[in-house]
Amino acid sequence: MSASEAEVSELLESAVKNGLVRIAEASDLASLGQARAAVLGRKAALAQARSALGVFGAEQRRELGRRANDARVRLEAALEERERAFRAVEEKKRWEQERLDVTLPGDEPALGGLHPLTKTIWEIVDIFVGLGYRVADGPEVELASYNFDALNFDPQHPSRSDQETYYIDNDREVLLRTHTSPVQMRVMEASEPPVYVVCPGRTYRRDVLDPTHLNSFAQIEGLAVDEGITMSDLKGTLQAFARELFGRDLDIRLRPHFFPFTEPSAEMDVLCFVCRGSGCRVCRQEGWIEILGCGMVNVPLLEWAGYDTERYTGFAFGLGAERVAALAHGVPDIRYFYENDQRFLRAFEGMA
Ligand code: PHE
Repeated sequence: MSASEAEVSELLESAVKNGLVRIAEASDLASLGQARAAVLGRKAALAQARSALGVFGAEQRRELGRRANDARVRLEAALEERERAFRAVEEKKRWEQERLDVTLPGDEPALGGLHPLTKTIWEIVDIFVGLGYRVADGPEVELASYNFDALNFDPQHPSRSDQETYYIDNDREVLLRTHTSPVQMRVMEASEPPVYVVCPGRTYRRDVLDPTHLNSFAQIEGLAVDEGITMSDLKGTLQAFARELFGRDLDIRLRPHFFPFTEPSAEMDVLCFVCRGSGCRVCRQEGWIEILGCGMVNVPLLEWAGYDTERYTGFAFGLGAERVAALAHGVPDIRYFYENDQRFLRAFEGMA
């Protein structure tokens, strides 16, 4: 049974009317998708009307076909309009969710900083660089011949024993250097005077750890060899250094001492920067604080280097960086420098 023209017209009209209602009822994109299938899909009233066209003559078919097309265009336009509206709502919602307050303060990344010991070492090295010294370094795994023999240590010297020194080999020819003084020998071996070097570096001794001893620590060595260098050059240089590091008006004093590699030898004290000489806990009632060992480069060392000992003399000094850093910052136990406790390290933040 085929439909009449009037029936098809009616079908088209109700397809549009019902379709528009259906589209208007959609509440979001998902239900609009269902509405689209219901009004434009293969089983929709519109599709049924179209499939009925086949029975009509050419003219009627063209006329009904045009109306069917108009109906589809109207429905599609309605769908598109609804879709645009839903998309706008959805986009607004998404923007709302993704909203960023660009005026909020950001998370500050945690910045690393230099270790307080490194700062102290750089500060000390800088003072000598300012006086015209060059920075030199040498190996931490050193030959006993540089660490002891060339430095004029007696073959029986107690610090050669493996109670005090970490040896690498059984013949005790290779060791972890016990001080930075072997760098002096390497520098002198490799260069002619004038020599002005400062040598920061790690050193090792078989020590039991306590508030003032570590078995690995940092030393800074200084060496000057030139024509006419005297003990007063040593004292003047150390005085300039101590004033720069501890304070403008602090005096130093040299106390006689012994080192195999210097002659004469001395220990340098600086006037206690807390009590200025009257005696306190920091200087253990001495009024003075021991800072470093020093002396005139012993002649056998200059000979070993092949220097003309009639022409050249020199001085050397060596200091423990942890001790100086601890004194400068009032740290009661040098082990703190190696525990990496953030609370300790943070106390030095921003310090020059
Ligand atoms: N090397 C000595 C030490 O480790 C320090 C020092 C260096 C003394 C140079 C005098 C001259 O104790």
